[in-house]
Amino acid sequence: LGRSQKPLDISSVTRFGTVPFLALAVWLVSFLLLGALHVSAQTIHYTKTPDSQNGERVYKSGCIACHGSEGKGASESSTVFTRPDTFPDFTRCDQTTPEANSAWKAVIIHGGPSRGFSQIMPAFGELLSNEEIDDVIAYMRGFCNNTHHYPAGELNLPRALVTEKAFPEDELVISTAMNASGPPSFTTDVIHEQTFAGRNQIEVDVPVNYEDQNHNWTSGVGDITLGLKRELYSSLKTGSILSVQGGLLLPTGDRSRGFGNGTTTFEPFASFDQLFKENTFVQFQAGADLPVDTSKAPRSMFWRTAIGQAMAPDHGLGRLFTPMVEFLAARDFQSGASTNWDVLPEMQVTVSRRQHIRVDVGVQEPFTNTSGRSAQVLFYVLWDWADGKFWEGWR
Ligand code: HEC
Repeated sequence: LGRSQKPLDISSVTRFGTVPFLALAVWLVSFLLLGALHVSAQTIHYTKTPDSQNGERVYKSGCIACHGSEGKGASESSTVFTRPDTFPDFTRCDQTTPEANSAWKAVIIHGGPSRGFSQIMPAFGELLSNEEIDDVIAYMRGFCNNTHHYPAGELNLPRALVTEKAFPEDELVISTAMNASGPPSFTTDVIHEQTFAGRNQIEVDVPVNYEDQNHNWTSGVGDITLGLKRELYSSLKTGSILSVQGGLLLPTGDRSRGFGNGTTTFEPFASFDQLFKENTFVQFQAGADLPVDTSKAPRSMFWRTAIGQAMAPDHGLGRLFTPMVEFLAARDFQSGASTNWDVLPEMQVTVSRRQHIRVDVGVQEPFTNTSGRSAQVLFYVLWDWADGKFWEGWR
């Protein structure tokens, strides 16, 4: 052999750096600590099945004066207050089904201001029992007939840094990845997601690169993705949701500078998410990248898993903390290609009162084929714009 062959060096195949180890430890400690404090987010788990008939009685005695007999709001001549622009019309399925029961419950117990809404919405925590509140929510759910089978907000699991969830969303995400070692490099993705007809979503992802290439800072747009997602199946009863997406990566990035593939790529994938009792969840995503010109980029496939636990103080109604860990795999289609495996522990936290602004930070560490693949620090800010303007709902 012309080249010197080293015996297989196990440390280059499986490596566990200190950074992810530390992150994993932080994640585990927070997981155990929050678990020990018995904070959980209330979702689909009730001690007693809600009784919507009793809910109707509660609604008619306490809510009808403002929200009206049909849930559209009482006539403006009979109500003295001016309606805030976020005033709900409970017959609008597209607006109400994406709201989890726990979001309504927080507002009913603690009043509008607890989620950054108007103080005109009173607090009923002292007037109604826990069961009465579950009952009135069950009754109010009936205002929307949901003939279009929009997926329930409970199935909108916390977004992971890399694994794409199944739930169609209205959100803007600014997500940055930077090298933890080697030459500095930043990639920021500006991602816009918008639902239409409840079960579908369009997505536009514009990556912007900023890199130190041989001590010269260079920047440029990468390959822009256009995506179309459709939810195929969801069930609140079983806690499952399945969707498929077709993506088109346009060759907008400069290939010579390493910012793009130089060829159009099709990216089909499927996502399946499962929510368990006590708010443990798993999200799976599997798909392929199929470039048109395979001399420029290889065909590849990927499969990703995110495991997490959503928890919040105040019986699940307070600030939401979601530790997660992702396992990410990718390999080229050609035979003999090996699989790149990465592990990514992370923590997502809601930062605004309304919980429509969230941040997530994590460290992605390669643990197979590590040569030339640096650990990365990932971070995003997410704005669920259907829940209000960016600056609203903080206090
Ligand atoms: C004095 C009038 C008034 C009464 C009584 C009232 N509400 Fe409201 N409610 C409001 C207003 C106003 C809003 C909109 C607040 C905003 O968007 O800033 C609201 C919003 C809500 C929301 C929406 C939260 C969201 O996420 O969009 C829920 C749920 C709700 N009320 C439930 C109830 C229930 C249940 C009752 C009876 C137990 C009730 N309300 C009684 C005025 C009232």
